[in-house]
Amino acid sequence: MKFTLNGKPQEVAVPDDMPLLWVLRDALGLTGTKFGCGMGLCGACTVQVDGKAARSCATRGGDVAGKSVTTIEGVAAGDSPVVKAWCELDVAQCGYCQPGQVMAASALLESNANPSDDDIDKALMGNLCRCGTYQRIRGAVKRAVEIRGRK
Ligand code: FES
Repeated sequence: MKFTLNGKPQEVAVPDDMPLLWVLRDALGLTGTKFGCGMGLCGACTVQVDGKAARSCATRGGDVAGKSVTTIEGVAAGDSPVVKAWCELDVAQCGYCQPGQVMAASALLESNANPSDDDIDKALMGNLCRCGTYQRIRGAVKRAVEIRGRK
């Protein structure tokens, strides 16, 4: 299967029906994307496919052939205002869900440059955080908007 991964061409020999999560973690060694529920319910495994948030546990690897996939490694390697805001506001507690939260927040800001509280809550409500960092997450999305505005 050929696709674009974090901006670079990628080829990997895996069965088409292997979940994208396992393609990333097991076949390609990108372990920043986390396994939570494995059923598309918790958001820990969120990546972006063609710029939109997607649950990698519920996406077949074969379905991203020819598409562009971005993982937390790709976002973290860039000059991401979301990552900067997350660090500035010390959002993470245990940290397990945070790659998925950052990926969902980044996808939100690509489609909505200045989201309201409701927009943020709606976009991220499928990303569960057992530590309850939701207030800091919301604050960090707003801070990311400010940081983006400075550029
Ligand atoms: Fe994919 Fe929970 S691990 S949504």
